[in-house]
Amino acid sequence: MTAIPLGPQEWGPGAVPDPLSERRHGLVGAQVSRIDGPLKVRGAARFAAEVPLPGMLYASLAFSSIPKGRIATIDTAAAESAPGVVLVMTHRNAPRMNPVPAFLTAEKAAAGDDLPVMQDDRIHWNGQPIALVLAHTQEQADHARSLIRATYQAEPAVTSFAAAKAGELKPATFAGHPLDVQIGDAEAALAAAPYRVDATYRTPRHNHNAIELHAATLAWDGDELTVHDCTQGVAHEAWSLAQAFGISEDQVHVSSPYVGGGFGGKCLWQHQTLAAAAARLAGSPVRIMLSREGVYRIVGGRAATEQRVAIGARADGRFDALIHTGTVMKTAHNTLPEPFIMSAMCLYAAGSMKLGIQTAELDMLANTFMRAPGESVGSFALESAIDELAEQLGIDPVELRIRNEPDADPVSGRPFSSRHLVEAYRTGAMRFGWDRRDSTPGTRREGEWLIGMGTATATYPYARMPGGAARITLSRDGRARVEIAAHEMGMGTATAQTQITAERLGLPLDHVTFAYGDSSYPGAVLAGGSQQTASIGSSVIAAHRELVGELLKLVGDDSPLAGLDSTEVGARDGGLCDLGDPRRWESYTDILNRAERQELSVEASAPPPVEAATWSMHSYGALFCEARVSAGTGETRVSRFLGSFDCGRIINAKTAASQFRGGIIMGLGLALMEETLFDERNGRIMNPSLSEYHVPVHLDVPQIDVIWSDIPDPRAPMGARGIGEIGITGVGAAVANAVYNATGKRVRDLPVTLDKLL
Ligand code: MOS
Repeated sequence: MTAIPLGPQEWGPGAVPDPLSERRHGLVGAQVSRIDGPLKVRGAARFAAEVPLPGMLYASLAFSSIPKGRIATIDTAAAESAPGVVLVMTHRNAPRMNPVPAFLTAEKAAAGDDLPVMQDDRIHWNGQPIALVLAHTQEQADHARSLIRATYQAEPAVTSFAAAKAGELKPATFAGHPLDVQIGDAEAALAAAPYRVDATYRTPRHNHNAIELHAATLAWDGDELTVHDCTQGVAHEAWSLAQAFGISEDQVHVSSPYVGGGFGGKCLWQHQTLAAAAARLAGSPVRIMLSREGVYRIVGGRAATEQRVAIGARADGRFDALIHTGTVMKTAHNTLPEPFIMSAMCLYAAGSMKLGIQTAELDMLANTFMRAPGESVGSFALESAIDELAEQLGIDPVELRIRNEPDADPVSGRPFSSRHLVEAYRTGAMRFGWDRRDSTPGTRREGEWLIGMGTATATYPYARMPGGAARITLSRDGRARVEIAAHEMGMGTATAQTQITAERLGLPLDHVTFAYGDSSYPGAVLAGGSQQTASIGSSVIAAHRELVGELLKLVGDDSPLAGLDSTEVGARDGGLCDLGDPRRWESYTDILNRAERQELSVEASAPPPVEAATWSMHSYGALFCEARVSAGTGETRVSRFLGSFDCGRIINAKTAASQFRGGIIMGLGLALMEETLFDERNGRIMNPSLSEYHVPVHLDVPQIDVIWSDIPDPRAPMGARGIGEIGITGVGAAVANAVYNATGKRVRDLPVTLDKLL
């Protein structure tokens, strides 16, 4: 085993790449099976709703049936006298709680909205919790909840996108940045362009449908609150709940070792706060598990968008103008305008650009993050428009994209850290058999099935949020334990991070424990924005640098490592060696033994994420889809799909392939099925169940081929840019473009359902 030097201290200009990024044939990149796989298969991995607490009561929520107004009367008498009921909580008896900052408004804010939780008689959306019942069994709680009767004083509410658009539109900002780009005069360039497309694309609301329902089991011990939850932000949730109850964040202990799917939806919603309030009132531990309907009523989803994409091009295909503007819906109580211009901001060179988003506010459940917010639906519009332009120009859509490949970030002008999208296209096209596509729509047919091929670009930005930190404890038996307040939502974090740490420390895989999912661990590391791997990776590098420094302080004069500083040593074979002379080696065990130490524990914070402000850093993918559309029924079956990705180094080939496929499957749902049906008369979601809100099932999913460049990004920890969200991006357009090629019908509003093809 060759020795591995320390990872970089800084990530800005002049920083050396992470030595792990170039390492081949080791643990990084290997197909390691999930460490938590056997536990999950045996049912031994205990999820939030499976933690038993003595004397625990079960909660059930009643929801409002109007979108805005006041509760006039609420009759809880029948519920209170129902069998097994211990408590009915409404705004009349709920404990006083402080407002909780909405997500993105403070470093550790985790709440879906900034609304008061059952503190007054006001109703803010149709489906807002109005009562919580505690009983000895779930069935008793659910039954009692069904006996609650409320009457309302309704007030006028904005419950349609059209009405909201007719009101005041606001310029959108995302995490403090305006979503507005103007380069040159794009409208004039569009008008002057010899070739142009200019179309409106629409995407509907989407609801979260993680397999694991939102659930928490929690208990108070005096002023200390312990929450077993399924969350993407343990540290964020601890801080946010502390705000609500006026206690310090270290009085809240959030444990979340397993999350059965998150996708942006598993943050702090009102159910955890309400359950904690009810537990305090009843003096008993409480378990709350939302019904599937409950998830639709109180957990936000993706907001609807209306997007204009206009491209002006020359005969050779080069863009003179790129316009991507439009409106998204939002509430006044959250901070996420679906940022659909993100793909247009990084993908194409254009002589002029106009990108911008406005928000239209509705009285509805707060919308929120849902896998690749912005790119998922923005790439549908942008990549559909490029397909439309390619046909007009008579240029192959792959070739058209390649002709508009930028040399540097088209908006910021910053150099790309690493970009191999063209190679991803060439490799993907060859493997998919793109050259067999007939550019004339509707020409390929087998029986009733019209067959077409479509392509689209996938992209998602690299990010690393501030707040990363890690503790590493090395013990005398040569084992290491890493602790980080990070998360495993099923994507393979625990496995990938164990591989990385073992490789970095020169230890076998089974000598490393990666401990996560607990707010008592260091750091505020969100599992979101496809940045957790980078955040954990840079935190471990920082802690590892600290560890090696401390180890070298312990080596004595008779150690082979005597006199070396930490830049001169590397890790190999369970110890440290002189990089210049690797035979000068000493095991961790010997170092600790000689120093008479049982263990050595260090903690460090990751340096600020300056890399993403220095370079333009994005993951990329080239997608290829073959779709079959029934000429009789209009039914679309995706028959083949290929994703060719350029996301930097891939850390675990097995879990990464699964991540990409999972994202693409979610994209097939976005393309063909998913749509929240919203009653515009009263703001009520009409299909709050998996029987009426359709997501892909096995029969809807074809063979999905995924390949990747595996070219390390020299600016990212481990050379890896993140793969959590890119899989869903571009899929909507790849499918719609394939459907067009099959049928000659251009569908510009998702989902592509059969009624739009007949
Ligand atoms: Mo993701 S929408 O950042 O969990």
